[in-house]
Amino acid sequence: MKILFVCLGNICRSPLAEGIARDLVAKNKLDIIVDSCGTSGWHIDEAPDRRSIVVAKNHGIDISDLRGRQISPYVDLEWDYYIVMDESNKRDLLNMGFDENKIIKLGHFGADNRDVPDPYTYRDLEGFERVFNMIETCVKNLLSNKLKK
Ligand code: 4NP
Repeated sequence: MKILFVCLGNICRSPLAEGIARDLVAKNKLDIIVDSCGTSGWHIDEAPDRRSIVVAKNHGIDISDLRGRQISPYVDLEWDYYIVMDESNKRDLLNMGFDENKIIKLGHFGADNRDVPDPYTYRDLEGFERVFNMIETCVKNLLSNKLKK
């Protein structure tokens, strides 16, 4: 199975989701390929936001070698699922022509299908910590129920 995590910038939320998923895949020897990308091209080739790197590191996960990339409606057709962080990401993918049946909000795997809030303008690490915990819970559920809806 191939899962692509998608947010706006690919420097805050989706690299966290990718890092958490990579960690679970490695530890549990799952046959799942994961990657992440942004709907925008604002942070291409950039490392994740320093605050995401720090929060992930505090949880034992190194995301410092990930680099930003923009989703392509031509190249990124082969993914089984596009796991988006919020409604805006979903709208953007639909506008690019991606298959609606393959687009699922990460919050679907949490308690109440909430958007994962964009933490970019947060002033401290507390918000990033909240976002990490929300993403971690949802990614664990996603991988454990193998995307059964
Ligand atoms: P992300 O957060 O979508 O979780 O990576 C953002 C990163 C950068 C910007 C917005 C959101 N930005 O406006 O540059």
